[in-house]
Amino acid sequence: MPELQRISTVVAMQAQSETWRREGLCIGLVPTMGFLHEGHLSLVDYSLAHSDRTVVSIFVNPLQFGPREDLAIYPRDMERDLDLLNQRGVDAVFHPETVEFYPPNFSTFVEVQELTAGLCGVFRPGHFRGVTTVVAKLFAAVRPHLAVFGQKDYQQSAIIRQLVRDLNLDLSVEVAPTIRETDGLAMSSRNINLSDDERRRAPALYRALVMGKERIEEGRRDATAIIADMRATIERDLTTDIDYISIVDPDTLAEVAEITGPVVIALAVRLAKVRLIDNIAASPPQR
Ligand code: PAJ
Repeated sequence: MPELQRISTVVAMQAQSETWRREGLCIGLVPTMGFLHEGHLSLVDYSLAHSDRTVVSIFVNPLQFGPREDLAIYPRDMERDLDLLNQRGVDAVFHPETVEFYPPNFSTFVEVQELTAGLCGVFRPGHFRGVTTVVAKLFAAVRPHLAVFGQKDYQQSAIIRQLVRDLNLDLSVEVAPTIRETDGLAMSSRNINLSDDERRRAPALYRALVMGKERIEEGRRDATAIIADMRATIERDLTTDIDYISIVDPDTLAEVAEITGPVVIALAVRLAKVRLIDNIAASPPQR
């Protein structure tokens, strides 16, 4: 197996990408912030299966963290990440330094409207602007034919699709399912910052989502009532600030009051050091 290439400058990344493109090879990109887990690796496997060359980017993007958020304690382990990606057969890791991506005179931002207004956008002002700006830069550096994102960050993937559509970017966005621990907790790099007690109780989030989904599949239509039951389930097990539990249209992300078609149930909660998000798709019974 060829060795994993490590690329840290935009110029070198673009040159490698150009060589591959001249050879007629299809390039897949998996953008990450590192501290990889099976969720990330499932996106990597998707890219490996659907393209000729796979690039994984590892960049903890300061622009998407708010001033009171967890940038300083965001977990990192580059050597382990490189090992995992090498074993998987990834072709290149792109890991720019912060100054490479954001030199002192950096002053251009990419902002998607509408889809960023609700859900996490309410509680993390500027977060999605940071995400879309860095993702646009990653696309320009790697020039992939396809880019793979996780359903785990449902709003993020919807926003990236919109970005690609609106700016006519010549690549396809693929969204792969959420990978969970055996007790249902969605895998996340941030789970390492949960206390033991929080980690034991955190599956309550998934239980609440499954309960909401079951209610919808039974034909319950009142979103407010379902959300109230989900809230009670979470509060029984977890001492937490619930940022939101919302039932939204899968495309527009607008809140749905009466459930008559497919929806996504999304939630975000704050524990001592970690903010967790999760979501699940649900559809009412066919009549
Ligand atoms: P990060 O949180 O590292 O996630 C990288 C990718 O992995 C995202 O597309 C995310 O949705 C996906 N992912 C995370 N947990 C997952 C799980 N349990 N199952 C399936 N996929 C999962 O999301 C980001 O980084 C950043 O915002 C980024 C897009 C890299 C821009 O900085």
